[in-house]
Amino acid sequence: MNMDRTLAVGADHAGYLLKDQLAQAARDAGWTVIDCGTNTATSCDYPDFAHAVCQRIEAGAASFGLLVCGTGIGMALAANRHPTIRCAQARDVTEARLARQHNNANILALGARLTGDAVALDCLSTFLTTAYEGGRHDRRLAKLTPPA
Ligand code: RB5
Repeated sequence: MNMDRTLAVGADHAGYLLKDQLAQAARDAGWTVIDCGTNTATSCDYPDFAHAVCQRIEAGAASFGLLVCGTGIGMALAANRHPTIRCAQARDVTEARLARQHNNANILALGARLTGDAVALDCLSTFLTTAYEGGRHDRRLAKLTPPA
């Protein structure tokens, strides 16, 4: 498996239909997708799926992640508890692009109840095709870890 083009995806009951649609779009674009669930409308807890996706990235099994819940907020909160994860909640393509260019985000969080399917597809496509700019942003990313 080419982990450089492997995307781990996860969602709760509010986001799984959009997650499935986005996962298929990623496959169509040549990505290998690791689906961490959920895959039903049964009510569940978003942190369980956020942590599962983060663990795939931490283990080196995936290079990027996608998390979808109702708002994207809960997923981002949970994912960002992981020290090596930079999860960006995005509501439009500009945020998705800047999350990569400036923040070197490795997970995109989307809100299925707030963002339409077409915009979400554009957000993911942009996120997966935009490079980190490095330079001055390296210094700022190094400061994301709180001082001791
Ligand atoms: C589930 O009702 C909802 O709270 C969840 O999907 C998410 O929006 C939380 O941040």
